[in-house]
Amino acid sequence: SWTTGNIVEEQVARIRAQVGNSRVICGLSGGVDSAVAAALVQRAVGDQLTCVFVDHGLLREGEAEQVERDFVAATGVNLYVANEQERFLSALAGVSDPETKRKIIGREFIRAFEEAERAIMSKAEAEGEPIRFLVQGTLYPDVVESGGGEGAANIKSHHNVGGLPEDMKFELVEPLRALFKDEVRAVGAELGLPAEIVGRQPFPGPGLGIRIVGDVTQERLDLLRRADAIARAELTSAGLDDEVWQMPVVLLADVRSVGVQGDGRTYGHPIVLRPVSSEDAMTADWSRLPYDLLARISNRITNEVDGINRVVLDVTSKPPGTIEWE
Ligand code: XMP
Repeated sequence: SWTTGNIVEEQVARIRAQVGNSRVICGLSGGVDSAVAAALVQRAVGDQLTCVFVDHGLLREGEAEQVERDFVAATGVNLYVANEQERFLSALAGVSDPETKRKIIGREFIRAFEEAERAIMSKAEAEGEPIRFLVQGTLYPDVVESGGGEGAANIKSHHNVGGLPEDMKFELVEPLRALFKDEVRAVGAELGLPAEIVGRQPFPGPGLGIRIVGDVTQERLDLLRRADAIARAELTSAGLDDEVWQMPVVLLADVRSVGVQGDGRTYGHPIVLRPVSSEDAMTADWSRLPYDLLARISNRITNEVDGINRVVLDVTSKPPGTIEWE
């Protein structure tokens, strides 16, 4: 019978046949697809693989550590970390238009990845073993969506921060091409990846950069990261991670409202909760979360995150609203 173990064995054999003794590079985004693809390749060819993680500073609380510490501990992979938080903050300074933010983040991501790649390449070449292959976490639905043929891997290249340049000199390794998302998660679990990585809900490549309505600053990122961590922790302890497709937490950085807290008046920012249920993100409905859960999230965020004095719930379906606010 067809088990997850079979899938792992078959993919490992295919990867070995394709790659031989060559070196391989793989970008990690913090998401489940790139992590599982990398873990499969690691299982197949071990030290021939080098993973690259560009930390753009737009991930949620704990996510960089999940890659740098937990993923490495689970797989033993060679990881090259590019700490690029400053690069992204300065490129985004003063920018509030959503599509401009996406373009900037996408462009800087490619530049940062290419710089990391060059550093790894020159080391590999010095050792007489140039890198020939690039791993991509393309899933079966991506292949279908683009009409099937070769080159399907590039379907999301303008959309995803993981998108890579067209003039790529690498051959692609795509071990997830035949799999659906739930199979990818099962393979990840089979390979021993941490539950936080395997069970991660969808999260946009441009990250928290498109969840701050207004321009992106370090201070705003810190506020949003703390509010988001509280909301996610409460959703998880309510046992609703599977029921909720994703729950963007959005900082309305350009909006302030008057409040009263402790011994005085506040003038702070609102946080929007955007829990949705969906099959495929093309359409969505707002999730009817229990009131007591919403109350807990609201109380905790307003009490624990200085500068946030109001929590609001988005009750718009998609359409007409999109899932993200930007
Ligand atoms: P929207 O907001 O269009 O989102 O309803 C649909 C799904 O796509 C995700 N999303 C993105 N993912 N880069 C990504 O990789 C992006 O620029 C981007 N924008 C939205 C969103 O989180 C939801 O799952």
